Amino acid sequence: MKKADDVLTNIDAPAEEATPCACKERRLKVGIIGTGWIADSHIMSYKQMPDVDVVAGADLIPGKADAFFKKHGMEGVRTYPNHLTMLEAEKLDAVSVCTYNMAHAVPTIDALNRGVHVLLEKPMCVTLEEAVAICKAEKKSGKVLSIGFQPRFDANMQMIKKIVDSGELGRVYYIQTGGGRRRGIPTPFGTTFIEKETGGIGALGDIGCYSLDMVLNAIGYPKPLTVSGYTSDFFGKNPATFIGRGHPEYADVFGVDDFAAAFIRLEGGIILDFRIAWAMNINTPGDTIILGTEGGLRIPSTDCWNGTVGGPMTLYHEVAGEQTETIIPIIENKGKAGLFEQKIRSFLDAILYNKPAPVPSSQIIRNQAIIDGINRSAKLGREIEINIPEI
Ligand SMILES: NC(=O)c1ccc[n+]([C@@H]2O[C@H](COP(=O)([O-])OP(=O)(O)OC[C@H]3O[C@@H](n4cnc5c(N)ncnc54)[C@H](O)[C@@H]3O)[C@@H](O)[C@H]2O)c1
Repeated sequence: MKKADDVLTNIDAPAEEATPCACKERRLKVGIIGTGWIADSHIMSYKQMPDVDVVAGADLIPGKADAFFKKHGMEGVRTYPNHLTMLEAEKLDAVSVCTYNMAHAVPTIDALNRGVHVLLEKPMCVTLEEAVAICKAEKKSGKVLSIGFQPRFDANMQMIKKIVDSGELGRVYYIQTGGGRRRGIPTPFGTTFIEKETGGIGALGDIGCYSLDMVLNAIGYPKPLTVSGYTSDFFGKNPATFIGRGHPEYADVFGVDDFAAAFIRLEGGIILDFRIAWAMNINTPGDTIILGTEGGLRIPSTDCWNGTVGGPMTLYHEVAGEQTETIIPIIENKGKAGLFEQKIRSFLDAILYNKPAPVPSSQIIRNQAIIDGINRSAKLGREIEINIPEI
């Protein structure tokens, strides 16, 4: 197990000119909303931070939060039956919102309205309407809201942006992104990912948000203008998909997409061609490719998306007038803290040093607008315009 000081020294230090917040003089009080699967990663990271006390946690399921803190050797942490009772009873600096997608917006807004900084798990939420409400609450509160995209801290993901920013590709005009799994509908501890009432969106939100973030972040998050989307649920609705897990009845409650595809027009004349799958009858729907006027980049697909690229990238360009390829080897995240620890640390540093959110809602609202647009377009069966209201 790493020592707390190692974690701190291995994370990029805040800029020297950053002004510390008054709260830097004491330990930050953090609460966890939703003590399910991903909350484990949050708590394990917080435990490594020397300037944080996790003092409270909430979960709707009776006894779940108590069992969670017991499992992590933190029996003294106060627990509550929902996020609201916790926010009312505790004076918290920050919360991690680790609830299922359909319960992202309300706890986030309730926390921001009470002056509490929020680290919100991905995807930001389910609809664009919710994303707008979250951004408005953030603006009103003046608090830090960061969205939980840990791949942003991966050196290979950062390399994609560096290549685009270097001008090596020239003007980017076409991107194909996505990926997914031949079989891999997530039901880790039950059905919260696949039910409409809890997950709200399927592969599209769960892993689609990552693949969209990878390429949109690389090109500076241009505004999405129109989308023609498609979603399907052929595998999720088939009991055979879940027989191997001993739960054919999961097909009865499956209420989200297991595959999505879309053709998206972005500001600046850029086309984004997207497809993502939790299940399909092929190994991959294709690598990510970024085409520019001077060069092209191939990024091998990944079936998981919550960490890094699927293999070494290839840059197609010209050297001395000759068409050539340069392999970009995988960069080891050596000497650095884990991606999750960096996600948590960068959120804490934004609070402590009055810095902007490491993964800002001003970008991710565009990611959410695309997801929302794909869903709406798929239902209507035609292309639609995307309009993101002013915040
Ligand atoms: N960043 C990552 O790598 C990663 C990985 C897995 C999941 N996630 C995201 O994390 C989120 C949660 O996923 P999970 O697998 O942990 O789900 P989960 O179903 O295991 O846990 C969610 C918990 O939230 C609780 N909850 C819901 N509403 C609540 C409320 N108002 N107050 C208190 N508790 C509430 C539920 O009772 C449940 O126990 C999802 O949005 C998912 O996309 C992120």
